[in-house]
Amino acid sequence: PLAVDNVQALASNTSLKAIPPRYIRPQLSTDQENNHRAPHHQIPVIDLNKLTHQQFSPQEMAKYHQACQDWGFFQLVNHGVAEEEMIRDVSGFFELPLEVKRDGCSQDAARMEGYGQSFVFSEEQKLDWGDMLFLYTRPVLSRNLNHWPALPLSFRETVSNYSLEMERIKTLLLGMMAKNLGIDEEKFINMFSDGTQTMRMNYYPPCLEPSKVLGISPHSDATGLTILLQINEVNGLQIRHDGRWIPVQMLPKALLINIGDVLEIVSNGRYKSIEHRVVVNTEKERMSVATFHEMNRNVAIKPLSELILEGEVEQYKSIHAEEFVKLLSSHRLDGKNLLDLMKLNK
Ligand code: SIN
Ligand code: FE2
Repeated sequence: PLAVDNVQALASNTSLKAIPPRYIRPQLSTDQENNHRAPHHQIPVIDLNKLTHQQFSPQEMAKYHQACQDWGFFQLVNHGVAEEEMIRDVSGFFELPLEVKRDGCSQDAARMEGYGQSFVFSEEQKLDWGDMLFLYTRPVLSRNLNHWPALPLSFRETVSNYSLEMERIKTLLLGMMAKNLGIDEEKFINMFSDGTQTMRMNYYPPCLEPSKVLGISPHSDATGLTILLQINEVNGLQIRHDGRWIPVQMLPKALLINIGDVLEIVSNGRYKSIEHRVVVNTEKERMSVATFHEMNRNVAIKPLSELILEGEVEQYKSIHAEEFVKLLSSHRLDGKNLLDLMKLNK
């Protein structure tokens, strides 16, 4: 990967009069005009209590199934995850001086781990208006504490606790998905039980000309299931729905869940991995934490045979997890190209 500027430092440079050309996206203004005319949409909100506890509701289960099929995204409320420590320690980390962040958890190119910018492979590649800290969080043995911030002092313990909570939510959500899909719950949960968990902590500074840049380029997540926590009240995520970019208005304390490419493949396209991107604003930084859950490495990524009903065909190729990772690194940042490569019967 090629080294590029730290965006937080760039944005706080008061002598900067114009955005460097590599951040400028020519297509963006027309997209936003289209958006302006889009009818008001709100992504589904799912109550976890109504999927799992005494309050179990078949209507909520049906709503959950629909959200996975039609939107690929939903907000989750009543999830029981305590977010305060994460909010405190992740913002505490990004507020540290640049040298402390850089020296304390430098980027490792091979694992793409540590603090820096999203990875850049060519001089032509457009740059995202944001910095990130990327960490391997599970299995616990995969953690490399050299990349984990030592400050704030409680950071490691907080992330460790949160990681376990994410595992709990992932397992509940997968179980309920299996129910909705009419497949064996335990088998489905087990396909993901030893999968790698990683976290991408994002910091998008405000920008002089927000309509010309993107915090994250359009992409779909090449993972099983993603759980997003918004650290402050600054929105910015947009998802592709019915050909338009729909802004997500996060509810206080909600988590945002999305289906990744691997779940789309495994469900033979019943559940959708949706393209999304991040926009920024002139006023205030946005911070978020995306937790990615992969499938176990020892199972092939392919449509589940139980989900190929009579008269249906497989919509995706079968691929070994290792192969998938290789494909992924050669198609990074190319929107939905990876999923397109996997499609049969195009
Ligand atoms: C993403 O990880 O794709 C989105 C992150 C965010 O909403 O800030
Ligand atoms: Fe994403």
